[in-house]
Parts: sequence; structure tokens; C-alpha cells
Amino acid sequence: MLSQWWRDAVVYQVYPRSFADGSGDGTGDFAGALARLPYLADLGVEAVWFSPFYPSPLADGGYDVADYCDVDPRFGTLADFDAFVAAAAGHGIRVIVDIVPNHCSSAHPAFQAALEAGPGSPERDLFIFRDQPNNWQSIFGGPAWTQVADGQWYLHLFDSSQPDWNWRNPAVPAMFEKVIRFWLDRGVAGLRVDVAHGLFKDPDLPDVPDPAPSDRPSPWFHRPELIGHYASWRAILDSYSPDVFPGERTAVGEFWGTEITHLEPYFRPGGMPQAFNFFLFQTAWDAAALRHTITTSIGLAAESDVVAPWVISNHDVVRPVTRYGGGPLAARDLDVDVALGTRRARAAALLLLALPGSAYVYQGEELGLPEVIDIPDAFRDDPVFHRTGGARLGRDGCRVPIPWSGASKPYGFTEAESTWLPQPTTWGPLTVEAQQADPGSTLNLYKRAIAARPRGGGFAWLDRGDDVIAFTRGDGFTCVVNLSAETLPVEGEVILASGPLEGGLPQDTAVWLRS
Ligand code: NOJ
Repeated sequence: MLSQWWRDAVVYQVYPRSFADGSGDGTGDFAGALARLPYLADLGVEAVWFSPFYPSPLADGGYDVADYCDVDPRFGTLADFDAFVAAAAGHGIRVIVDIVPNHCSSAHPAFQAALEAGPGSPERDLFIFRDQPNNWQSIFGGPAWTQVADGQWYLHLFDSSQPDWNWRNPAVPAMFEKVIRFWLDRGVAGLRVDVAHGLFKDPDLPDVPDPAPSDRPSPWFHRPELIGHYASWRAILDSYSPDVFPGERTAVGEFWGTEITHLEPYFRPGGMPQAFNFFLFQTAWDAAALRHTITTSIGLAAESDVVAPWVISNHDVVRPVTRYGGGPLAARDLDVDVALGTRRARAAALLLLALPGSAYVYQGEELGLPEVIDIPDAFRDDPVFHRTGGARLGRDGCRVPIPWSGASKPYGFTEAESTWLPQPTTWGPLTVEAQQADPGSTLNLYKRAIAARPRGGGFAWLDRGDDVIAFTRGDGFTCVVNLSAETLPVEGEVILASGPLEGGLPQDTAVWLRS
């Protein structure tokens, strides 16, 4: 029996541009990540997922891939990647790479060849070219079609620099099979699959009503062909013996839906081993709503062998401290209560790490970093900001380089004077160095929680009142999160608490107990 380590692992997401810089150019890279590997080992994570590091114009932070089987020189070389994988294995840490199959970069040689070859050519058939566009809109804002010099239009669900592949052309799945084997052969333990609910489009490319359906099925997402497609990838993953790295190879799909039930088709045996559960961070800080999300998620996973890792943060969403301290980030001048947000984010961390199954932690989440909302427009990089003329701020605020040490910028991130996205001047107390020295820091909370979190064991709700989340995980382990205004009695031996226990468990505080 292989280990299926991913069933209850804590996985750390590295956004390479912003994790650690080893080359001194102000942008993160593999040399920097390698130097910080002891930090990840000390934190206790079992795997690292790298957001894309492939050759890319970085028009969408690397999710615009120009070559799927290499490393962008700004991040290092394939040898640097291999060195990281080997060194990580020495710490018992596995590596997951990001596969971007829905689209590539317009700089990809196949797209350049398609432009060159002209209408009706086999090269164009690798993408979705038409003589007329339909009325689909890009997820990043603006039309989903761009016209080329000879008059044809190509489809891009994201930025115009990210043409969608034509998954109905057999050459496309064949190419991606080679890509995933390339990385699996290099010893990676898993794949994170970008826009996993995309890929196949309705072949008729029908116009959609206005407003477009946000629901499933849409002509561009959640098409039935995906089920057979992921069964074929699962077969490849399962064909890899554990000799390269002990434990089964895995994949986790980025599936978005407005309701968790929209993901039901992916919760079938023999398909994608894992489907991200984004519903926890989409749920308001409200006990009934959170209970509903958790119950539905656990129910869905219980009926299948698919794991749905819990997430409260990633490189696409507003950081939890800011989200919980002021609600969704709708405007620049949002009045954020950072103290409240921090208290709730720490409680949410203990909730995240007590739930059954796997959890993903996004770099900086363990430091309690807030979203940076005042990045000057001139520095904003996200195509979401530019394609909406600034109407949507985009995701730069959660991608600001990590503060490692020191009292001022660049906080040990780089030898350069500045970082690719500017850091705030207020992050001195939030550096890794400062937090390592403070027993009560968010970093130490995460570290202790990762070490003490319940593994295996069942899950059962406890009734401690409408505004309280309470459950057991077997072996006398109890998690209580108090969302009510009343201070609750603490019954049992305290393993860990997200904040001071002042005569009981105060509002917006979580505690782990052993009875
Ligand atoms: C999802 C990724 O997480 C996001 O960062 C990216 O912009 C889109 N997919 C397009 O690749």
C-alpha cells in the first residue's frame, strides 16, 4: 500500500517571485528558496507547491507559459530546480509543480507558429481561432477575443497574452502528457493544475446571455470531457512507482464553482486525486455559514476517495488579515481593522489546521501579513488591474515580497535596494526574524499548530451554541472557535490557543483542547 501522504498533509505555497531572492535582482528565485529551505522544514510543512517558474514574459506572473519544460533564467536553471527537489527531499519535503493547461503565453513558439501559418493551418488549430468573435468576456475583464493582423480572432479566457489551447485537437493532450511526465520523471511528488475546470470549451462557442452564467455548466467551464481527461492523468500518476520518492504522486485541481455541489462531478473515484476547497475562505466570518461550508465539504469528500484540501489564502485572494478585518476588498480606501483581522485570521488558522484532511498555507499567511492596499499604480503588475482600468485592484497586494529580517525594506528579501513590488515601511515587526523571537507570534502559532494538529481520527460536531464552532477529532481532541460576544468557559487541557485566554475563551479566539 502506497502512502498517499497528500491525504492529510500541510502544503506550503511558494510564489517564486516573492518568496526569497538569491541572485540579488529584487525578484525571488530557486537559489533564494533553497537558502530558506530550513525555514520550511522548521515550520513543519510536508510539501511545497511552486507557482509557475517557467520561461515566461510574466504578463500574468508566470501563468503565461512560454516553455513548459524549463526554468525562467530569472528564477534559475533546471539544475537549480533539481537541487531544490533533492535538498527538500533531505528534509522530508516533497515538491509540487504548477501545470497550466488551459492557456499558454502568446510568446510560446506554438502560438507564434500559429500566427505565422495563417488561417486554416494545422498550427492555428492548436488554438481557438475564428473569423468572428462571440460575446464571451475575459475573466480578467474586457473581451475574451483578440484580433490578429490577418483579421482572425483568438480566444483567451484570461489576458490577451494567454491564448487558450484547443483541447479538442489530440496534439494538445498529447503535448501535456509529455509535460507532466517531464516533471514527474524529475521526481516531483505532485501537480497543481491551473484552471482545472477550463480546458475544453463548447465546440459551438455559443454566445451567452448578458449577464453571463456564473454557474455550471457554462460553455467554457466544467465541460463533461474533463472527467475522462483527468482519469487519464490519474492513470499516469498511478503508473509512477514510489521509487523516485516514497509516496504516491498526486495532483490537485483548481476548480472554482459558486456552490460546492458544482464540484460533485470531480468527486469520483479514479479522477483527479484532489480538488481544492475554496469555500472556506469564501465564507463570511459567521458560525452558521462556516458550519454549513464545513459540513457540505466533509460530506462531499466522504462519499468519494477525492481529497479537498482546505484553503484560507493563496496568491489570487485578499490576505485573511485584511479580509477578516474589513470584508472583501472592494475599494482602495477600505477601512481595515488589522487588529480584528489578525485575531480572526489566527483563529481561522487553528480552524484550518484542525479540520480533517489536507491544508494549504500560502507564503506570508503564517506571518499574518495584511494585504498591501496602497501599492502605487505605477508599480501594479496584475493584468486584472490594467484590463479593468484600475476598477479592480487585482492581486498584487497579496504578492508583495516576504519580510525575512531587519527593521526596514527590503527586510532581508534581497541584496538589491528594492523589490519587484514595493514592500510597506511597517513590516519590521512582521519579519520572520522578529516573529521567531516572539513566542506569541503568528509564525509560532502556525509552527506549533502544524506540529500538534490532529491526524486521522474522525470528525463530529459539538453543540456549544449558535455562534460557536466546536468539533472533536477523536482521541479527546477538541477545537472550539468562539464567534460570539460572550467569553466561554474553557473545559479541558489547553493544547494551543489563538490568543490570550482571559478568564475563558474570548470572542474571535480559537482553542485546541485535550479532554
Ligand atoms: C489561476 C491562477 O491561480 C491565477 O493566478 C492565474 O491568473 C489564472 N489561473 C490564469 O492562469
